[in-house]
Amino acid sequence: MATVLKAAPISQQIVEDLTKQCSLLKNNGCIPCLKVILVGAHPPSVIYTRNKKKFMEDIGAECEIIALEEDVSEDTFLSTLQTYAKDSSVNGLFVQLPLPKHLSHIDVGQMVPPEKDVDGFHAQNLYKLMAGDKGERALLPCTPKGVITMLKYAGVNLEGKSVAVIGRSLIVGKPLSLLMINYNATVTMCHSRTSDLKKITKSADIIVAAIGKAKFINSEYLRESGDQILIDVGINHDEFGNLCGDIDQSDVEDKCALITPVPGGVGKMTIVSLGQNLIAATKIQMEK
Ligand code: GUN
Repeated sequence: MATVLKAAPISQQIVEDLTKQCSLLKNNGCIPCLKVILVGAHPPSVIYTRNKKKFMEDIGAECEIIALEEDVSEDTFLSTLQTYAKDSSVNGLFVQLPLPKHLSHIDVGQMVPPEKDVDGFHAQNLYKLMAGDKGERALLPCTPKGVITMLKYAGVNLEGKSVAVIGRSLIVGKPLSLLMINYNATVTMCHSRTSDLKKITKSADIIVAAIGKAKFINSEYLRESGDQILIDVGINHDEFGNLCGDIDQSDVEDKCALITPVPGGVGKMTIVSLGQNLIAATKIQMEK
């Protein structure tokens, strides 16, 4: 039976640390302040932003969700974003994705100043990641950062490990691949056009499923030895409407060594990473 690597105990430790850091910042006259721009009422985005706000308030930071109508004009959207980008009382800023179709061509990552870029999507932060940074200087994208935090907590050393990352998104697959390379893993980036995916996943020490397809990875993708580590980044609903990941958890649970659950796994860690990035961003701005 695999060890289930839950986010809760990891999150609890980090929350304690972030609460202390927040209190120290407050004593120095600065309450970390996050603004979240939410366009429309995409149900998962409404839930995610609400959870992010609650987390920030729990650690003692301020968080406001700026809710814009689904059909907001491009001009209003951009000017709202610019207002908060320029506001010196705002320490962290991001736009919840996905955006409605009429705004989806906008590269929002470049419109948030790099020092407020708690999503880690600005070119300056992504370049640092490409250049080998493990989060020393860059604000890292939240989901990849959360995955690394979980692996460290579990005592998994990435050096020399082979990793199959399935999914090539800008939010997860690509930055996580780079980050794992920076930890000296050997990464194969896989996607919908990869041929013989099973051959690659069977030879990997760690499989990261970030595909967006419910229960896509099952035991047919695993080798017999039962020693693989499975990281499930998916948040989907199965045919009964229940929350599930990209991995068929019940099918693989006795065929791998370690697995992150859904819910209560990587999704929670994404919010924890956002909290860490907000505190880091606030410190960068105070030092300026
Ligand atoms: N939507 C899903 N994941 C994310 C994320 O990490 N950042 C933003 N801004 N939107 C998301």
